Amino acid sequence: MPVITCIDDLKRLYKRRVPKMFYDYAETGSWTEQTFRENTTDFDKIRLRQRVAVDMTGRKTAGRMIGQEVAMPVALAPVGMTGMQSADGEIKAARAAEAFGVPYTLSTMSICSIEDVAAHTTKPFWFQLYVMRDEEFVDGVLERAKAAGCSALVLTLDLQILGQRHKDLKNGLSAPPKLTLPVMMDLATKWRWGLQMLGTRRRQFGNIVGHAKGVGDMSSLMSWTAEQFDPQLDWSKIARIRDKWGGKLILKGILDVEDAKMAADFGADAIIVSNHGGRQLDGAVGAIRMLDPIVQAVGDRVEVHFDSGIRSGQDVLKALALGAKGTYVGRAYIYGLGAMGQAGVTRALEVIHKELDITMALCGERDVADLGRHNLLIPKGFSDGWE
Ligand code: GLV
Repeated sequence: MPVITCIDDLKRLYKRRVPKMFYDYAETGSWTEQTFRENTTDFDKIRLRQRVAVDMTGRKTAGRMIGQEVAMPVALAPVGMTGMQSADGEIKAARAAEAFGVPYTLSTMSICSIEDVAAHTTKPFWFQLYVMRDEEFVDGVLERAKAAGCSALVLTLDLQILGQRHKDLKNGLSAPPKLTLPVMMDLATKWRWGLQMLGTRRRQFGNIVGHAKGVGDMSSLMSWTAEQFDPQLDWSKIARIRDKWGGKLILKGILDVEDAKMAADFGADAIIVSNHGGRQLDGAVGAIRMLDPIVQAVGDRVEVHFDSGIRSGQDVLKALALGAKGTYVGRAYIYGLGAMGQAGVTRALEVIHKELDITMALCGERDVADLGRHNLLIPKGFSDGWE
C-alpha cells in the first residue's frame, strides 16, 4: 500500500491506473486551458497570515451547508461519467462521502443511476440537473430525485453548450469506451480497471439511457449535450424547475456579480461561484478572484459556495476566509477514486480535512466559522482592476 500524504500522490496513482481517455476527461480544460490552469495558480497568489501564541486546542471544522450538518464545509462536486473512473464510481464516492459526513452530488451525466446510488446509501445525497429540451425528461428526473430522497437540487447554469475539450475529441471519449486499437493497447496496462469494469453492469449513462428520446449516439457526452441540452435556459425556465422541484435549490456556475445579484433576487438557497473547473468558457477569470466581489454583493442575501481549483485544505481555507459558506472538490476526489476506489475518495477527504485543520491552527483559528479576510494576504488588484 503506497503512503499517500497529499492529493498529488493520488493523482500520480490515478494516472497509472485509469484509461487515458478518462484521465484526460477529468484533467482537461476547454480550448487553451488558460482558465483551467489559472483556477489553481490564482489560489497560490493568496498567502496566509501566520499567527502564534494562540491556544490551538478544541478545533472545529464541522459546520453547515444549506442548513445540513457537514463534518467540514467541503462537498463532492457533480462529475460526469464518474462510473468510468472506477467501476460503480458514483456509488463508491457517495458511500465515502456519507461515511465522512460531507454531501455527495450526483451528476445527471452519471453512470450509476439515482436509484442505484439511493439503494447503496443510507443518507440523502444531492442531485445535479442539466436542463434538457425534453421537459418530460426533466420532470421525470426531478420526480426520480424526489422519490430517491435527494435533499438538494444543484442546477447547473454554465453548460447548455459544451466547451470544446480537444483531448476528448481526439480520444473519442465515450461510455463505455469503444475498443479501438489505441484503447485496447492502453487497457492492456490498466488491468485492474478492466477487471472491475467487467464485473459491473453499470457502463452507460444510467440516468438517461432508457429515459430520454432522440439521441444519436447513446454513449457520447458530446452527442447528449449537442442534441439534448436546452440552449434556451433562462430565468423563467429556472423558475419552472424550482416550482417543480419544491425543495432546496443551489444554482451552480455563477462567475459574475450581475448574475449573482439576479440569483439572489430569484431566491435560491445557495449559489456556487464556479467556472466549471475551467471546462467551459476558456479565457474566463480564475474563479477564486470572483469570490470576494460576489460575497460583497450578495453574501448577506444568499449562501455563497465556491467550486473550481480546490486541490488542498489550504485552498478550502482560502475560499472560506473569502466568505464562502461551503466549497466543492471535483478532480481532487476523482484522483482518489481512480487510484484506490472508495478508499481513495476517503483518503482524499482525510488529506483535505487534515490540511484544513492544521492550516487553520497555524493561522491562529480554532473554528472554520471564524475564518475571514484577516487570515489572508491578498495581492493588490487580485479581484478588481479589470476594465
Ligand atoms: C460536464 O459534464 C463536464 O464534462 O464538464
